[in-house]
Amino acid sequence: MASDTATAHANVNLALVKYWGKREPALNLPATGSISITLDGLGVEARVAFDDGSADRLEIDGSPAAGKEAGRLERFLDVVRAEAGRRERALVATRGSVPRGIGLASSAAAFAALALAGSRAAGLRLEPPALSALARRGSGSAARSIFGGFVEWRRGERADGHDSVAVQLAPPERWDVRVVVAVTTTAPKAVSSRDGMRRAEASPFYPAWVAGADTDLIDARAAIEARDLEALGLLAEHSALKMHAVGLAARPPLLYWRGATIECVHRVWELRADGTPAFVTIDAGPQVKVLCTPADASRVAAALAAVPGVERVLTCIPGDGARVLA
Ligand code: DP6
Repeated sequence: MASDTATAHANVNLALVKYWGKREPALNLPATGSISITLDGLGVEARVAFDDGSADRLEIDGSPAAGKEAGRLERFLDVVRAEAGRRERALVATRGSVPRGIGLASSAAAFAALALAGSRAAGLRLEPPALSALARRGSGSAARSIFGGFVEWRRGERADGHDSVAVQLAPPERWDVRVVVAVTTTAPKAVSSRDGMRRAEASPFYPAWVAGADTDLIDARAAIEARDLEALGLLAEHSALKMHAVGLAARPPLLYWRGATIECVHRVWELRADGTPAFVTIDAGPQVKVLCTPADASRVAAALAAVPGVERVLTCIPGDGARVLA
């Protein structure tokens, strides 16, 4: 039945103030708030159809989902079914336009698209905050991909997580910035965000990380409101470097960087010393993402492409939130 089928699209997002640690793992409730920018053109389309099949059938980029990935999708469908009070199994197909292995987590886009398509297919019409809370159950960062532009995911206080949802701080057209991504390796990462976060939570530096988050969020909100690239960029760098410092102090240690990662950071700092406002951030992998103005993007991209070990460079603009396609 057509009413039991829906297709939706969502873009990836890049955290400027990082989410790194949970207050409650089962509901994916974060220890701190976080702020991101949604990126255009790097997204995932998800189609969900509830039917009378005897099991969920899951397909990612044209191949059957397997192992951990399949388990995670099935658990997410169970959450959608529980919310909608339905029991039918589903046919799910996702297709990403995110190049694989570039370290821009497609899981954020995938679970945002699945939350929208899955809830529609199950007959629910959720408002954006409830959609964000649903997407969060699949992957924390997916809560932010429901919205476009600059987005804050609130930590929330409630045990049920209903107040741990994202809100839009500014639409994409309000501030035209660029994010240049330097890909230093396309090898699969050794430690997933989820596992890395768990390890970081036992780091002696973790309490300091959590304690500093509220100040970072206040300053990032003000920088976005004022469209102050230097203030936001310096803060994004600070947040990313603190996040990685927490991992370095963990046991066993967590180090996502490769040699080229560090060379890219130094190259960006040289550009800055020469008068180009450009700022780095790094996620749970070795790629370097650089925030800069549209006018400087090609210079930044050329400088990063010339760093030994950089395999490719791509430039992104701010993007829209999740939308229903059919
Ligand atoms: C470093 O959202 O992938 O990208 O909630 O366990 O699925 P789970 O983790 P995930 O973690 C993202 C971590 C990060 C920082 C961020 O996006 O804020």
